[in-house]
Amino acid sequence: MTTLIINIKELLQVRETPVSKVAGAEMAILPTIKNAFLIIKDNIIADFGAMENLPEITADKIIDATGRIVLPCWCDSHTHIVYAGNREQEFVDRINGLTYEEIANRGGGILNSAKKLNETPEKEIYEQSKIRLEEVMYLGTGAVEIKSGYGLTVEGEIKMLRVIKKLAENYPVSIKATFLGAHAFPPHYKENKTGYIEEIVTKMLPEISKNKLAEYIDVFCENGYFSVEETEKIMQAGIEFGLKPKIHANQFNSIGGIQSGVKFNALSVDHLEVMKPEDIEVLKDSETMPVALPSCSYFLSIPYTPARKMIDAGLPIALATDYNPGSTPSGNMNFVVATACIKMKMTPEESINAATINGAYAMGLSETHGSITKGKKANLIITKPISSYYKIPYAFGSNLIENVIIEGEILA
Ligand code: NIG
Ligand code: FE
Repeated sequence: MTTLIINIKELLQVRETPVSKVAGAEMAILPTIKNAFLIIKDNIIADFGAMENLPEITADKIIDATGRIVLPCWCDSHTHIVYAGNREQEFVDRINGLTYEEIANRGGGILNSAKKLNETPEKEIYEQSKIRLEEVMYLGTGAVEIKSGYGLTVEGEIKMLRVIKKLAENYPVSIKATFLGAHAFPPHYKENKTGYIEEIVTKMLPEISKNKLAEYIDVFCENGYFSVEETEKIMQAGIEFGLKPKIHANQFNSIGGIQSGVKFNALSVDHLEVMKPEDIEVLKDSETMPVALPSCSYFLSIPYTPARKMIDAGLPIALATDYNPGSTPSGNMNFVVATACIKMKMTPEESINAATINGAYAMGLSETHGSITKGKKANLIITKPISSYYKIPYAFGSNLIENVIIEGEILA
């Protein structure tokens, strides 16, 4: 099956020589081709270039993209899409004055979602989660990382990871699974934290590793959740079971989570709303991708990741949604890209790089996703007719997407 896209107004994120990520000043450069064509063979980008170099080919399908911009699908490297129910009541409680922390301290927050998750049958969790996955596919997401972390029991965590596995089997979007048993201490272990960590290490991890249910391990390293010492113990155990770390760090406090992540060669450290100079310093010369989650900052009214300072210090940044029922009930990468520009003063070029190639890196997918490169997956967004790609962040509330192609298939 060959699909030919012609007369593309501008083709974005063109990388003839593949890169795994872009950092610092390189983030300002978004390579493009104006008046372009692109050829998809089966599910792969087979060729692309300027219209004047269009080769003679026979295509099964031709898409005329006159006036439209084409870019690689978004790569959302941090989500909690699999959950049960919602936390709409807590949202209203926050409007009425309670803080996210106060809600968590009285047994709401993550523990509220954990209770719902454990009470809901696996099939029902799958049905609820697939609606969210389909929603984000139509919003242009072609690869997504999904975490467990609302089970907090052996059965609950395994149940979540099985749902993630089933979503990966049933949908064309690439899905990476992360084990986040260390998301919070469950109530029955409140007075016995070592006991819960023992359960993670001796019960959950062996089962997950045996059944190949996750590739990454995550810990919520934060005051009131997991200390740096506990985070390191869990990361170490995860590594021994073959999982690579991705850490929730510096959401509310800078307590050393980034330093630990870098020390354990984490693939990414995520959130980073509160950053001290030494947190930026330690990320230099590391392979760890800093991931910002601006819709979480927006929804909770907490600081935005100081992206400008970080990029100006030479660091890369990836952007992700954090789609979850408590801190970010939205999986819209278009909104994330816009918010990064509007609130974090990232340029459109930096934001698009952060949401494509750097997002792919943050979930170990940069060889196959995140850019227009021959041999990569044919995961493409075709916009509606628009004036320029600046419009993507500028018109922040509009849906500018006309078509999404995932693995060569146009979404109906
Ligand atoms: O990334 N910060 C920790 N975990 C999630 C939110 C979890 C929740 O409130 O359900 C996050 O924001
Ligand atoms: Fe998160």
